[in-house]
Amino acid sequence: MGDSNELALVIMAAGKGTRMRSRLPKVLHPVCGRPIVMHAIVLGQDLGAARIVVIAGQGIDPLRDVLRDQDVEIVEQREQLGTAHAALQASDTLKDHDGPVLVMNGDHPLYRAETFVGLMDAFRPSDVDLSILVTELPKPHGYGRVVRGNDGNVQKIVEERDADQATKTIREVSLGAYLSNGPYLFDTLRKIGNDNAQSEYYLTDLIRITAETGGKVVTAAAADWEETLGINDRVELAQAERIMRRRINERWMRDGVSFIDPEQTYIDIDCSIGADTVIQPGALLRRGTQVGEGCRIDAGALIDASQVGDGSWIKPHCWIEDSKIGRACVIGPSAHLRPNVDLGNGCRVGNYVEVKNSKFGDGSKADHLSYIGDSDLGSGVTIGCGAITVNYDGQNKSRTTIGDGAFVGCNSNLIAPVEVEPGAYVAAGSTITKTVPGGALGVGRAQQRNIEGWREKRFKKDGK
Ligand code: UD1
Ligand code: CA
Repeated sequence: MGDSNELALVIMAAGKGTRMRSRLPKVLHPVCGRPIVMHAIVLGQDLGAARIVVIAGQGIDPLRDVLRDQDVEIVEQREQLGTAHAALQASDTLKDHDGPVLVMNGDHPLYRAETFVGLMDAFRPSDVDLSILVTELPKPHGYGRVVRGNDGNVQKIVEERDADQATKTIREVSLGAYLSNGPYLFDTLRKIGNDNAQSEYYLTDLIRITAETGGKVVTAAAADWEETLGINDRVELAQAERIMRRRINERWMRDGVSFIDPEQTYIDIDCSIGADTVIQPGALLRRGTQVGEGCRIDAGALIDASQVGDGSWIKPHCWIEDSKIGRACVIGPSAHLRPNVDLGNGCRVGNYVEVKNSKFGDGSKADHLSYIGDSDLGSGVTIGCGAITVNYDGQNKSRTTIGDGAFVGCNSNLIAPVEVEPGAYVAAGSTITKTVPGGALGVGRAQQRNIEGWREKRFKKDGK
């Protein structure tokens, strides 16, 4: 027997999601960077659920893949015969769980933990058998309507397709979240039939059966109707994204981050931003990106799985992936940091510079039109305009090492593997194939030669 107070969560996520018209299972579509089903799992974690069971059917393999590092149990529902049938699939897994079980739809990413605390509070009195989440919707179409008796007690939920005209006018709807004790829940689920418009086993019949057998059903209301949005198609997906985006951005604004236009600034749910950072419209922070305090993130910057240190400035239209930027750096405009770039403090990577798998020591800079790949730069290095590291010979990648305080002149090619030692200079336009010793000037270019009077000879007398 489990601890009788421990909560188990059952997330129903086996539906076909036909209306998404997608190869990707519905619950794997992201909302602000987190798959729909993960929003439900995080909610369960926030509620302290001891066990989380995900009911999967369509697309179970990609789902397993996405959830491989999560502490959840995945149970297959082979045929999608309805929500009651889905919830019942967890009965074996939870047969020893005698505490409360929360069953919920896996397609509601906007649920808030506070709302579920209300649902759990409503369930606490010992005479309550079932607590369900409800709300009043201005347009209840498509949702199961809550039918109450003259005493105000809930009698049943009627699905849209089974509702008569009078029932359709009811604006109080069920939101697909049900809390009951494990043994009672699974016993009752076994009694549910499929005699309805869709010939499905409806989980909502749990309410009718409980009421008919003299049990007590209570409701908890979601305060804010926006949190109730379930996702069935891509229009609702975009609506959910917009609502979630606003929540995320308002949270950061309250924490001291400025957004010039929060409606057009796209911050994934798992990112973080320090106070006094200013973010311009069209910026995107994705996949756990962390931005420090007092930064500027300009229009159109896309920062993916990266860290930006305090006081750094990311100018317009940069693309930064899997990289780490120190404090007080200036990046862009239009710079591309590809995976595994590690910049120290006070570095500059200017316009049309691409950096990949490279390290810059403090204060090193490449201001214009360069490619730096597979390189290790010390501190205070200057890379002139258009200088590139030639890291690939068609078969192998090799590294370039540039020591502290070295200066690489414009339009040089450093053919790797090669080293420019600390304090060395590379003359502009050089092709460098061997070590430039510390303090030396490496010149690797043809000597200039002038042909006097060439123009006159070539074009005859008048030089035209
Ligand atoms: C359901 C409720 C409805 C409620 C609404 C709230 C029923 C019968 N109806 O309707 O009262 O107002 O949610 O959004 O429950 N699923 C499975 N296996 C199945 C069928 C569904 O896992 O065999 C999953 C789906 O993936 C989805 C959830 O259950 O996450 C709800 O199913 P869906 O078909 O979307 O139900 P609704 O018609 O929205
Ligand atoms: Ca739904």
